[in-house]
Amino acid sequence: MDNPRTIVQQFDLVTTRSQMTLGVMASGHLVCLYLGPRLASRVSFKNLLTDLNHASYLADTDGVRNFRLEQLPLAYPTFGNPDLREPALVVADETGSRITDLRFDHLETYPHKPAITGLPSARWDEQTRTWAFVLKDEQLHLQVTLVISADEDHDVFSQHVIYTNQGSHGLTIERAFSFNWDFLSDQYQMLNLTGAWSRENHLQWTPLKQGFQGVDSKRGASGHGQNPFIALAAPGTTWDHGQVIGVNLVYSGNFIAQANVDMHQNTRLQIGINPFNFSWQLNAHRTFKTPEATIVIAEHGLNELSARYQRFYQDNLMRSAIAKTPRPVVINNWEATYFNFNKQSLLTLAKKAKQVGAEMFVLDDGWFGQRNNDTSSLGDWVPNTKKLGGSLTALIKEINQLGLRFGLWVEPEMVSPNSDLYRRHPNWIVADEKHQPQLTRSQYVLDMSRSDVQDYLIYTLDTLLTENNIEYLKWDMNRNITDAYTQTVPPRRQGEFEHRYMLGLYRVLKALVTKHPRLLIEGCAGGGGRFDAGMLAYCSAIWTSDDTDAIARLPIQEGTGLLYPAAAMSAHVSAVPNEQIGRKTPLTTRGIVAEQGCLGYELDLTKLTAAELAAIQAQIASYKKLRWILQFGQLIRLPVADPGNQWAWLKKTADQIIVDRVTVLVQPNTVEKRQRLTGLPANALYFEQQTQRTYAADFLMQVGLPVDRPTGDFFSQRWILSRV
Ligand code: GLA
Repeated sequence: MDNPRTIVQQFDLVTTRSQMTLGVMASGHLVCLYLGPRLASRVSFKNLLTDLNHASYLADTDGVRNFRLEQLPLAYPTFGNPDLREPALVVADETGSRITDLRFDHLETYPHKPAITGLPSARWDEQTRTWAFVLKDEQLHLQVTLVISADEDHDVFSQHVIYTNQGSHGLTIERAFSFNWDFLSDQYQMLNLTGAWSRENHLQWTPLKQGFQGVDSKRGASGHGQNPFIALAAPGTTWDHGQVIGVNLVYSGNFIAQANVDMHQNTRLQIGINPFNFSWQLNAHRTFKTPEATIVIAEHGLNELSARYQRFYQDNLMRSAIAKTPRPVVINNWEATYFNFNKQSLLTLAKKAKQVGAEMFVLDDGWFGQRNNDTSSLGDWVPNTKKLGGSLTALIKEINQLGLRFGLWVEPEMVSPNSDLYRRHPNWIVADEKHQPQLTRSQYVLDMSRSDVQDYLIYTLDTLLTENNIEYLKWDMNRNITDAYTQTVPPRRQGEFEHRYMLGLYRVLKALVTKHPRLLIEGCAGGGGRFDAGMLAYCSAIWTSDDTDAIARLPIQEGTGLLYPAAAMSAHVSAVPNEQIGRKTPLTTRGIVAEQGCLGYELDLTKLTAAELAAIQAQIASYKKLRWILQFGQLIRLPVADPGNQWAWLKKTADQIIVDRVTVLVQPNTVEKRQRLTGLPANALYFEQQTQRTYAADFLMQVGLPVDRPTGDFFSQRWILSRV
């Protein structure tokens, strides 16, 4: 008999520059053979696994001595067989057995990419090909299909998994990961995006060690503390050097993203729905589909990874009707008025906003029910005509007449105990039948897994949008889920609740954007508490953080912009001293940092001097001229001498570059010299506006632009270069 580890079938999935190679061993197991830059020629991996020396004290497989599954790089490991590491799938049958043994059955290929019913996923284009690896456990009558798509042009792979119960008994899925990859090495650094409310998505590097590492959320949302993302990079990887493999989940709920280093220096990388508090009843002849994971391989550091993610999400994940629509300059009244406004104060603010050049007036919290603070009325999406001095329709008309478009804040998934909605439907909230449900910010969470709740929200929001000229919704979500329990499924199926919540949320969002295809939605969850690819599939932008301080935003936007397009990072210029942390930052720097994302204003313009208003007016006028490149240009991070204190980035299109640089604290008697650029086309020439000098691209990349002497803390500088 053949050595069971011999590769008998090899599948090379390639994009222009990346490659994922899977294989089937003689034993029938699907294995990971290669994930990295595309290899120049087709090579055979036939003996990759027979060449491995074997480790001791591991179980044998299929009665073959020294055939040790636990040492081998499995594409979709399960429980109860000789691989005693972390499984990607755990499923129990009607006897309670969780023993699962998947073997390759057949392969299907498609010249496109199937949608994942009920879940957001990236679209395909002509360059996409899909491989569906069908695995089976004959005893369980379970079919597991790994659906892997390769987008050749964008250099992105995506994967989701479909479970089909082909038997006549129910199965219970207890773990359902979207992606698993086993590496025969542990020589990586792990990268995650972590933080908290007000300091979301900071880059966090950790060298791998034996055992578990990673991030997860059990909060009912992806969360402020961690993004559904994990990357493994070569030690020493920077923005411009080093090989890195990033995996991101297109999902907004509980997730896990982890790397496990086993006893023999192998790394298992996994991402998917968090198995914590998750299970799914898979009845006979039913299927379950996991969320999609996107996988990007970069050879030259984080900038390359970032470019691929940004372009792919812009082109293939964000709604095509709005993805490339220039985003309007927003004025949001939250930090200007909080709950304390009336028609007059809103119109006064709107007039000033128009005067400085803003384009979209976004009316934040407090316009509905009896809401004058955060203790009431969520759920009652009925305009407070007293506060608005008449109908919402009339207010919008007046705002429109001033020459501004109109946007509205809502927090649809929530209900205040003090609301008509709660009094009418006390059983619509997330709670069990015994415990007093917990309040956060005086609000309960609506059970989005209920179809009556979904229908109510679709109807209510659609009515608001249909009856009023609302072109923009800020969709907030200001607490996480406690008391996770639903009345919609029987007791033994409670593990389905948190995933069903997400399916319900996505259903509502999809219904609204289908009916209102041009609607801009700004996602928000107390800032960046749900800034993920799942929400990005519906939103035109997401509020990056409740921290509007320009300096605090630098690391937040660095991490967020690693994966998500600049036009999707909503960023506002706010007042000084900053409301969250009291810092005083010059207006230019506040502008430059906000323009790294999607620029808006969130301050009381009526309190500013004529000179300050004129400065904002000039800022917006200049932004409008550069809007296309600032919103849709490729965002590239630049090297600096003093990282953490100096920050530099550029935005690039085919014919323009904008370079921005911020020095946080000025250092006495240091001589700042030049800012080097990266990522320019080799033989290009650029003309720099301010100095009227022409530079060769290689000069800009090797020598750089001259830097001004900072005149104080929080100093910023911008260069605008055009290709000649
Ligand atoms: C959250 C948001 C803020 C604002 C308030 C309104 O905190 O992040 O921007 O909309 O809610 O209550």
